Amino acid sequence: MSSRSDTLERYTRTAIAMHWLIAVVVIAEIAWGWWMQEIPKQPPGQRADAFNFHKSLGLMILPLMIARLSWRLAHPPPPLPPMPAWNGWLAHANHGVMYVALFVLSIGGYLGSAWSGFPVKFFGLVLPSWTAAAPALKDLASSVHLATSWLLLVALALHVAGTAKHALVDRNGLLLRMLPSRRAREPQATHEPPVAT
Ligand code: HEM
Ligand code: HEM
Repeated sequence: MSSRSDTLERYTRTAIAMHWLIAVVVIAEIAWGWWMQEIPKQPPGQRADAFNFHKSLGLMILPLMIARLSWRLAHPPPPLPPMPAWNGWLAHANHGVMYVALFVLSIGGYLGSAWSGFPVKFFGLVLPSWTAAAPALKDLASSVHLATSWLLLVALALHVAGTAKHALVDRNGLLLRMLPSRRAREPQATHEPPVAT
């Protein structure tokens, strides 16, 4: 194999950077979303601050996801290492679910907040208001937000379990494709040990 095809074995640096940046932010966002609801409503202040932080972080995920999806459409990922067809299909479908869930969560979260009637703030900056309070729509958006957060969690659990299986059981180099390591450029088919650099 040529060295050119070796470099095609992994995701681009940009895709890797965006994957891990978004992974960290999303995991923090989910944990924060759960935690913030445990904060007592009285005295007011701490709960509102925590909700505002969740909203700001969630709003940040939207442009990150738009950038990531645009990059992804222009840079197709490398082909999967050899695996049963159902496994490749499941991995791709699960990636699709995560992409969709992240857009639904960030856009739906914003809509729910706008319909709540409270001003939506982005790290302190009050965003323009375009709607009056709409309790029925707010409730609908909250239900969608809750259901989608569970869908994302299930997809994430499957994603991490699948990645662990490929890394630890199949040892097919799949995880290396998403790591910022020069070892990822090693041809996968030979099962050669990584060369120290
Ligand atoms: C410890 C946690 C994680 C590990 C070990 C991990 C690992 C990986 C690996 C190895 C790939 C490449 C799979 C392949 O080549 O097909 C991948 C792709 C992907 N991961 Fe993760 N990931 C993690 C967390 C996350 C999180 C939190 C998200 C969502 C926010 C996420 C979303 C995705 C998506 C959407 C892809 C597909 C990328 C594409 O083809 O565009 N991952 N991940
Ligand atoms: C990818 C981005 C996001 C993720 C992963 C996420 C995740 C979560 C999670 C796990 C919860 C707790 C479960 C629940 O009750 O729904 C939650 C609640 C909440 N989130 Fe998000 N969220 C995101 C974006 C947003 C955005 C952009 C906003 C608003 C601008 C927002 C507003 C809220 C609010 C107000 C709640 C409290 C429950 C409710 O009233 O619906 N979220 N979020």
